[in-house]
Amino acid sequence: MTTKPEENSKSPVPEAPGCNTASKDAILQVRGLRKWYPVNKAVTFFGRDIIGKTDLLKAVDDVSFDVAIGETFGLVGESGCGKTTTGKLILQLEKPNAGNIFFEGEDVSKLSSAGMRNYRSSVQAVFQDPWASLNPRMRVNEIVGEPLSIVTTMTKEQIRKKVGELLEEVGLNEYQANFFPHEFSGGQRQRIGIARALALNPKLIILDEPVSALDVSIRAQIMNLLVDLQDEHNLAYILIAHNLATVRYMCHATAVMYLGVIQEMGETEELFNNPQHIYTNALMSAALPSHPDIDRDEIVLPGEVVSPINPPPGDVFQSRSPLDVDPKHKYASTRPPLVQVGKKDHWVVDTPWSIAPENMKVKLEAR
Ligand SMILES: Nc1ncnc2c1ncn2[C@@H]1O[C@H](COP(=O)(O)OP(=O)(O)OP(=O)(O)O)[C@@H](O)[C@H]1O
Ligand SMILES: [Mg+2]
Repeated sequence: MTTKPEENSKSPVPEAPGCNTASKDAILQVRGLRKWYPVNKAVTFFGRDIIGKTDLLKAVDDVSFDVAIGETFGLVGESGCGKTTTGKLILQLEKPNAGNIFFEGEDVSKLSSAGMRNYRSSVQAVFQDPWASLNPRMRVNEIVGEPLSIVTTMTKEQIRKKVGELLEEVGLNEYQANFFPHEFSGGQRQRIGIARALALNPKLIILDEPVSALDVSIRAQIMNLLVDLQDEHNLAYILIAHNLATVRYMCHATAVMYLGVIQEMGETEELFNNPQHIYTNALMSAALPSHPDIDRDEIVLPGEVVSPINPPPGDVFQSRSPLDVDPKHKYASTRPPLVQVGKKDHWVVDTPWSIAPENMKVKLEAR
């Protein structure tokens, strides 16, 4: 099913600081990705509601990163920071306002229709809520086999056989192909979603909160299944998750987002052992276990989460910083670049709060 790429889709991938988190060749390279949604403000004029000025909600703003072949790239950050939107842009469910996505070195926006079909098969997704993402009126055989019946020329019998194999692979049984989604537990339903994502032999799967809707007791089983499948098929994942323990367990590299902008990024263990930015430290301290014997020094950020509508043009984090630094710092009107921390595979935005003072560093021994 490989497609001959168009000549003009092979433009060289621009270098981007902070993107060298991949220890192997990159399968996906995101460069300067931007999604701004126009938001109409309603105003009342002589007692009537009319559409006023259009503002811009900057969901994703100049995001660049690499995902290595067979590795997991994590995206973390508080609710609304643009993680799912980044995933939707990669899945072509949303059109970016600017920026490029390169898959195996080819610019996805310049692919031929056959190239785009190949891309859509190669990049799949598993979402948070398996209940919402499975059609309740379809049997598992149809749900898992649907991508095969749309994209391939396989016969019904061949599809049925393949679905059986996929179900066995994700820890279900072949006979369950005749069941409806309501005949499964939550964890089993997520296994069906994973089997469907695997049907077209993808190279990259976007996992958007794949275990957070599940009971704690089965989260580890699904994570282990995902890790096993990654090893087996050399799959790359983008893992979007709130749970930092999940990210630390699964991700080779991790990026921390705030208000649509990557604030810090690096090889996962380096990032967790040596978080630099005040925001990363605050995020990690909030995730510390609440055990009475543990001194839980949570780093509380002042102020409210800034609205993504018309955010500051320069450093988006400045209004949340607990440091008393002149807000007119050098990147007040332009986005601060990512700079390397030491010689490691570790990058952080160049602002006064990018290197947290000792009293704002998360206490490692408490983890
Ligand atoms: N279609 C849309 N139109 C307008 N705004 C949108 C649209 N989709 C998302 N947004 C906004 O973009 C911002 C980023 O949303 P996104 O869903 O990417 O956040 P997230 O990081 O995935 O959050 P969560 O952790 O809660 O899932 C939010 O402010 C959201 O309201
Ligand atoms: Mg989301």
